[in-house]
Amino acid sequence: MDFFMFVCICNAVSDQQIADAVKAGACDLQAIQEILLVSTACGTCRPTAEAVIADTLLETAAGRSRSTNASDIANLVYAA
Ligand code: FES
Repeated sequence: MDFFMFVCICNAVSDQQIADAVKAGACDLQAIQEILLVSTACGTCRPTAEAVIADTLLETAAGRSRSTNASDIANLVYAA
């Protein structure tokens, strides 16, 4: 079961929606605001929204580098 939390109460935007938007290519708060309107009313959610964006970017980068990391290359070299 996947759990989510609302990051932006004013616009009913969840952390999962923000993460999905980042994974789809939106890489900063401005881009996310254009899609989801997060943090466009009272602004209280801005720090949390930025944290979700940063965490998702790190997670995405880690996933990308993990598929071609040095250990994998070394294993291929030694296997050859
Ligand atoms: S809680 Fe996000 S703009 Fe108010």
